[in-house]
Amino acid sequence: MVNFKEEIAGLIARHVDGLELSEIQDMIEVPQDTKMGDYAFPCFRLAKLLRKAPPLIAKGIAEGIADSPLFEKVEQVNAYVNMFISKEVFVKDTLEEVLQQKDAFGRTDVGQGKTVIVEYSSPNIAKPFHIGHIRSTVIGNSIYKIYDALGYKVIRINHLGDYGTQFGKMICAYRHWGNKEDVIREPIKTLLHYYTKFHVEVEQHPELDDEAREIFAKLERGEKEEVELWQWFRDESLKEFTRVYDMLGITFDSYNGESFYSDKMPRFVKELEEKGLLKESQGAHVVDLEEYGLGTALITKSDGSTLYITRDIAAAVYRKETYDFYKNIYVVASQQNLHFQQWIQIVELLGYDWARDCVHVPFGLVSLEDGTMSTRHGRVVFLEDVLNKAVEKTREIIREKNPDASDEAVDETARIVGIGAVIFQELSNNRIKDYVFKWDKVLNFDGETGPYVQYTHARCASVLRRAGEEITAKAASLQDVDYSCLRSESAYELVKLLYKFPDVVVDAGQRYEPSIVTRHIVDMAQGFNRFYHDEHILTDNEQEKITKVALVIAAKTAIKNGLELLGMKAPEKM
Ligand code: ARG
Repeated sequence: MVNFKEEIAGLIARHVDGLELSEIQDMIEVPQDTKMGDYAFPCFRLAKLLRKAPPLIAKGIAEGIADSPLFEKVEQVNAYVNMFISKEVFVKDTLEEVLQQKDAFGRTDVGQGKTVIVEYSSPNIAKPFHIGHIRSTVIGNSIYKIYDALGYKVIRINHLGDYGTQFGKMICAYRHWGNKEDVIREPIKTLLHYYTKFHVEVEQHPELDDEAREIFAKLERGEKEEVELWQWFRDESLKEFTRVYDMLGITFDSYNGESFYSDKMPRFVKELEEKGLLKESQGAHVVDLEEYGLGTALITKSDGSTLYITRDIAAAVYRKETYDFYKNIYVVASQQNLHFQQWIQIVELLGYDWARDCVHVPFGLVSLEDGTMSTRHGRVVFLEDVLNKAVEKTREIIREKNPDASDEAVDETARIVGIGAVIFQELSNNRIKDYVFKWDKVLNFDGETGPYVQYTHARCASVLRRAGEEITAKAASLQDVDYSCLRSESAYELVKLLYKFPDVVVDAGQRYEPSIVTRHIVDMAQGFNRFYHDEHILTDNEQEKITKVALVIAAKTAIKNGLELLGMKAPEKM
């Protein structure tokens, strides 16, 4: 696409001596108020250089560049040169870009040659995959898609919580009260039940604790029976998680979780010791981070066993050595802020100069309308149930709207829209904010929701069906178009939104904030609907019709590509 700032800088440079092209480009502004033009050039800073009053300078520049075909109009207002881009040039350029790029529109290559790791989801084995996990899972998946679109090579890691003393307890409980068939039938609920029972029983029988500790020690030493049981729990849990990932259309490149690092930690405990960073405290080993305002971090317990934080240190170094990442991104709840600050600080103290390339991307809490979500109070809401419910509720709505559609078609649409609705809602708010999950809001077809945006996409598709293949094909290749047909305000505003889309993706990537994309998709959908209502698209004038249909194709493309970045599908019919 034409980089307007660059073009304008080139024109201005011919009338200003003594400034670099890049300096001029940096000075060009985009006015808040479109009455001041699409671009503006303030001349205050030139007064000294040119020994002239700023308004005079502005006047000279305005007159000098006014006859470029790039502009519709150039005005001097006080010290500013206000430039109005020729609508036709702008529309032509944008439509050409979108229709040529198609699925690739919005993709760039800023990340070419660089590897980025995105770690997300990372649930704990044998624990429920509950509604709280949706955040890391869906935000992480979108960040992966955004970085992929920016041209980075992305490695997706699910850092499973599959290690720790709780597995000693679980195996112990299974041996006392367990039953194989139950685990196979309902792995997570059953294992959770054993775990809870262990905590009840241990009150009466404290010796269970020693037994569990002994089992964990055997697991750490790699003894066959314990490892087999642990592996089985892990496999069964992963099967259950995978059902949810499949529903969401999410995959990973690696499931190396905490257990993967169990034999990689001694090296770091030694490095910490050699660097004099490790202190003994009641038999345990800690790193004192008081001078950084980060308290103390427990590295090994008094019985020598390592902790969550030690595994994160080992994992970061392993990833650097394996993938040589440019950035190592962790999509993990803000409750773990201190944990991340601590271990990143420790990695830095160990002398790894890439420590600050590890980025914690935190997010706030999700709660349900009827009270907060809590595992501790037994009010666990399984994510799978939420997704199923969303699909079911959507099926009713879709059925009502399409009484004649086949069951298959309704099922398919209900899946795309129901799951999409949950994903969209998740990515609508600034990630750091806490939010309340409300069914009415999620499934509303008219609000700023997933169904609304998907419906808009389906509406674009429906316009193309009505236009017919011949017109659509001509529009797609921009044959026989007349860009002056898109001068109306609603058409032009829509084109502007499309033009902005690639920058929005870059911005969302830089800020690790998918909601920036979500909001822009809503803007584009609203922009399209305004155009749809204001204008007669399928007019009798063929050239006008083709041109307007071209804009419909462009809007449809951008909305679809946007949804793809959120991990959502764009239905052709709804
Ligand atoms: N399993 C952890 C949990 O459920 C999240 C893991 C986050 N990732 C990490 N590298 N520490 O709380």
